[in-house]
Amino acid sequence: MSSTMIPEQLQQQIDTAALMARGIKHAALPDEEREALTNRIKQQLAQQDAVLVAHYYVDDELQDLADATGGVVADSLEMARFGYEHPASTVVVAGVRFMAETAKILSPNKKVLAVERAAECSLDLGCPIEAFSRFCDQHLDRTVVVYANTSAAVKARADWVVTSSIALKVVEYLRDKGETILWAPDRFLGDYVQRMTGADMVMWQGSCIVHEEFKAHELKKMKQQYPSAAVLVHPESPAAVIDLADRVGSTSQIIKAAVEMDNDVFIVATEDGIFHKMREAAPGKRFIAAPTAGEGATCKSCAHCPWMKMNDLPRLAHVLETGENEVFIAESIRQQAEVSLKRMVDFARTHINPNMHVTGNA
Ligand code: 13P
Ligand code: SF4
Repeated sequence: MSSTMIPEQLQQQIDTAALMARGIKHAALPDEEREALTNRIKQQLAQQDAVLVAHYYVDDELQDLADATGGVVADSLEMARFGYEHPASTVVVAGVRFMAETAKILSPNKKVLAVERAAECSLDLGCPIEAFSRFCDQHLDRTVVVYANTSAAVKARADWVVTSSIALKVVEYLRDKGETILWAPDRFLGDYVQRMTGADMVMWQGSCIVHEEFKAHELKKMKQQYPSAAVLVHPESPAAVIDLADRVGSTSQIIKAAVEMDNDVFIVATEDGIFHKMREAAPGKRFIAAPTAGEGATCKSCAHCPWMKMNDLPRLAHVLETGENEVFIAESIRQQAEVSLKRMVDFARTHINPNMHVTGNA
């Protein structure tokens, strides 16, 4: 299997960006201040015909606000679809940069605001367009499938964009048509998709700094400690962790599993922001974070995405009141990226859920 490693210098840049994001501390807000901010935000959303689209990993209060104002809390596929189909003229994205860019690519006539422009993603940072283009040039016979966690320019170079909730189905579909695949950037998700589908894939070697830290050896021990627990794993995790899972899936698929499965206890290998919706969706069940620190080692991310956690109420109020952080994408790139993204949205509608309409919550 051919692959492209992340150069050490780029890895250092990613680690430095994550370190800086981790260094940002959010002061706990007194109740009156939080209430005043929340009211200002609600007023601005209504006045500006704006809808709040949030990911499961952002703070609880942003998730609650999205729910309370007719927005959505969702996985990255549903965020894309919701922002695209919702009639609001402004879409405000609480998540990371690729999510805000995706909203703009799909809805060029809407105003798209990112709550935090500096909220990155290690997968996006680890796949710069110049190097990625060179990799594509070496494999011109392959269909280029990229994960949504990439820049607009990388999406523009791709034939298909996928998210973790749809990756298996799209690759199965391409495999059945006899196509070979160039996959980027997440090596763990790519490896999982390759193992499940048997497709012929060459891989970029990026990773998520949060999910790569989950540890199989410690997870085995935790399973012994909680023998009745089911293990839920996001496929950005290492293969040895995925192999211990009772269910593997995107954030929304993991929440659905927690609701549907009979178990009372779940060990969860994904970012810890997901516990808020899990507890809401499956009250009375117990959720335990999967281990991130190996023996004698300490975790750096510790199931906490430093970039997702940059989103907060004061920033959201500021962005709405100033119009800062509007997302712009060069039209030539946007148009090309739109083709590969729309393929995914249309595929989801035709192959997964033909009744996909804007419904409020995922
Ligand atoms: P989902 O599409 O499962 O929400 O994943 C997005 C992400 O960034 C996971 O780390
Ligand atoms: Fe990116 Fe990982 Fe953060 Fe998701 S959790 S946004 S993949 S760094």
